[in-house]
Amino acid sequence: MRTNQPQTIYLSEYKVPEYLVDHVDLCFELFEDGARVRSTLTVRRNPESTDTGAPLHLHGDSLTLESVALDGRVLNAGEFEDAEDALVVPSVPAQFELQVVTWIEPQNNTRLEGLYKSSGMFCTQCEAEGFRCITFYPDRPDVMARFRTRIEADKSAYPVLLSNGNPVEQGDLEQGRHFVTWEDPFPKPAYLFALVAGDLVEKKDAFTTCSGRQIDLRMYVEPRNASKCDFAMDALKRSMRWDEEVYGREYDLDIFMIVAVDDFNMGAMENKGLNIFNSSCVLASQETATDAAFQRIEAIVAHEYFHNWSGNRVTCRDWFQLSLKEGFTVFRDSQFSADMGSPTVNRIDNASLLRTAQFAEDAGPMAHPVRPASYMEISNFYTLTIYEKGAEVVRMIHNLLGEEMFRKGSDLYFERHDGQAVTTDDFVRAMEDASGRDLGQFRLWYEQAGTPVLTVTDEFDEAAGVYRLTVRQSLPDTPGQTNKKPQHIPFAVGLLGSDGQPLPLQLSGEQRDGPRERVLELTEAEHCFEFQGLPERPVPSLLRDFSAPVRVHYPWTREQLLFLMSHDPDGFNRWDAGQRLAVDVIQSLVGQSPSAEVEPRLVDAYRSLLQDGELDQALMAKMLQLPSEAYLIELSERADVAAIHQARERVLRHLAENLRNELLDCYQRNLGSGDYELTPEAIASRSLRNTALGWLLHIGDTEALALAEAQFESADNMTDRLGALRALVNSDFAEVRAGALETFYKRFSEDPQVVELWFSVQASSDRAGQLPQIRSLMEHPAFDWKNPNKVRSVVGVFAGQNLAAYHNPDGTGYEFLAEQVCRLDDSNPQIAARLVAPLTRWRKFAAGYSSQMKTALERIRDKAGLSNDVYEVVHKSLAD
Ligand code: TRP
Ligand code: ZN
Repeated sequence: MRTNQPQTIYLSEYKVPEYLVDHVDLCFELFEDGARVRSTLTVRRNPESTDTGAPLHLHGDSLTLESVALDGRVLNAGEFEDAEDALVVPSVPAQFELQVVTWIEPQNNTRLEGLYKSSGMFCTQCEAEGFRCITFYPDRPDVMARFRTRIEADKSAYPVLLSNGNPVEQGDLEQGRHFVTWEDPFPKPAYLFALVAGDLVEKKDAFTTCSGRQIDLRMYVEPRNASKCDFAMDALKRSMRWDEEVYGREYDLDIFMIVAVDDFNMGAMENKGLNIFNSSCVLASQETATDAAFQRIEAIVAHEYFHNWSGNRVTCRDWFQLSLKEGFTVFRDSQFSADMGSPTVNRIDNASLLRTAQFAEDAGPMAHPVRPASYMEISNFYTLTIYEKGAEVVRMIHNLLGEEMFRKGSDLYFERHDGQAVTTDDFVRAMEDASGRDLGQFRLWYEQAGTPVLTVTDEFDEAAGVYRLTVRQSLPDTPGQTNKKPQHIPFAVGLLGSDGQPLPLQLSGEQRDGPRERVLELTEAEHCFEFQGLPERPVPSLLRDFSAPVRVHYPWTREQLLFLMSHDPDGFNRWDAGQRLAVDVIQSLVGQSPSAEVEPRLVDAYRSLLQDGELDQALMAKMLQLPSEAYLIELSERADVAAIHQARERVLRHLAENLRNELLDCYQRNLGSGDYELTPEAIASRSLRNTALGWLLHIGDTEALALAEAQFESADNMTDRLGALRALVNSDFAEVRAGALETFYKRFSEDPQVVELWFSVQASSDRAGQLPQIRSLMEHPAFDWKNPNKVRSVVGVFAGQNLAAYHNPDGTGYEFLAEQVCRLDDSNPQIAARLVAPLTRWRKFAAGYSSQMKTALERIRDKAGLSNDVYEVVHKSLAD
């Protein structure tokens, strides 16, 4: 067991750096058995630091120090301290040059932090604290320096040598080696440093900025991926144009590069001028990528590009401010995606992710504010709360200020803080200063964890024509936070008359007709809004377009939900009404006998949906999806997973059996002809036909079986091929399933991204993904422990999506997960810590489950030499 417990870092202990680095000169000598890194830092005492005699403290991790020199004089052993995680020089002048030489072993780096090798190429990942695995450095984001980077390597094995900024020099060296030198004119924190060396093909394109500057665009990929770059390149150009048009942000360097690597801990990284992507988040072709993958790629390419301003030009003062760049950038990329596709569907996708996964995080043991007050391991804080809730917080500011003022605020923010490392508070202040609005109370969104609950009640005074809406807000306790204050919540509402028409919202005391929708601003624990002049009791449409990341409780009747499902002018709320109805029906069947009646009006509602010729098809496709098991679990008090699974299955089968003909019609109607397109309409059409196919195969329909087999054979795109495969895999046609899986694998065995899809289709299926089958997938030659995508597509998908199998009441799913976490902890602690998530909310589950989940957590806790990453998650989960 570990002896020293990892340290907690507190925001309240923030101190400005004692030393600043103006310039960094790096030289990398890359070899097969390691790399030598020579670093020359131009350092000066920070005039803002009060600690004038402080020693120079540089972070380091897993480094072999070869030498240290100060102003050209090599220091001897007594003049510095080479600790395990730091290099300390006790006495330094006010201004000096420090030269440090280190030796590192990228070929043995399995953590994928710092410099490592992936499929034969060298690459880096420095966020958040990976640069210290490359050389000794003040590795904190408020130290910003200009970097010059020389890379030397064997010319035939590594013809392409890349780093941030512009290439300024290159040439040949002895023994078949060569070098390239890069210079980045923009000061940046070390987490934005990047280096790539490999045998890569180059895809070229160009972009002319709004001011007429010509930017070289480059993608670097392994030769076999040369045909999978076009979509990302186009998405990049769309992003560049959009950021100019919507935010007035022009690109600043002369070159912008994207590199794809197979082994990567996260999705992608915004290194200045040299974005590095997980292959699965950038490479795509019609034959190999699903619609969902195309959309994800477009969003991530945009996200990383947008970071050039929101993150790089203006960066974070410290890691507590992570949402400053991530929340804002996610907001920006979701605005972009909404503009490129269907805004309603985009909003639905954001809100489902938030309600299913972020609300769960916010109600669990790892709950933390958008701006956390403390952490042990910063890698654990790249969370849905920082990213997605952070984006919702920015969206609320956008909605409170309005488009124009928000743009003024963002302009001011970029202008005021260009080249600085700042805080979320600076961001909010810029918004306040530009708009004149007071966001004092609003700031609580950054400080208080937990999901606000709005409890809404209403009454109608028929004689007076007055409708009263009472809204109470409360914020649940979270670890370390109790008795919280009311927050400033924009609450968008509409009222509908019995004819389905929107009614005016005229508040008492106001003259004349009111608007058809209002954003009520909640600031107190309780508000009562009185609307007058109403001819009849209205049906309220609450939290339109998901105007705030909150839970809404209102005693809707099924009748009202059915009404909103077909009449609400707000597309989001139409979808939401359908979800609430389905949730209500499924919940009422949990634990009931299999002969209990399924609400007949649900079948009718789905029938009308399937036959609605006017409804936006993209919205229809979303409305047809039943609430996920994960969401149903999130909504329950103490989840009985098997009972929830059965109730949901029951409803799904009941709908499919009763709507067989409508589903077949829907399939035929959406067969699509002609060329493959990525328009919202074409995507909706594929989604509808594959949903219909899935439902029909779920009930063993033989006509649908024939359709699925034909589609599987003849599809000209991955969405349809995988849709058919998924339907077959989730059916009871065991032989066809096995045959299709084999055919699919043979066809795509050379393509890692498709093999990952193949793994995840099986791992997520309660038919093909029971534990013994999961174990055999892990024995498959294509499975690779060192590759995070493979681990995620089997282990992560099993525990995160195949809930009935993972939560097997015998506890074997939990034991299995604990075993995998322990196994990964030594080689890749970041991934191991993420894999613990499906165990952390053990208190949420019914008794039989929770005690076994706890046991699995304790098993991980007791592993010898546990990493800080896993330590933090496990200990916080077990704390009372
Ligand atoms: N900043 C990256 C983003 O765009 C996140 C990221 C990429 C990351 N790789 C990482 C975070 C590794 C931690 C560790 O969101
Ligand atoms: Zn980001």
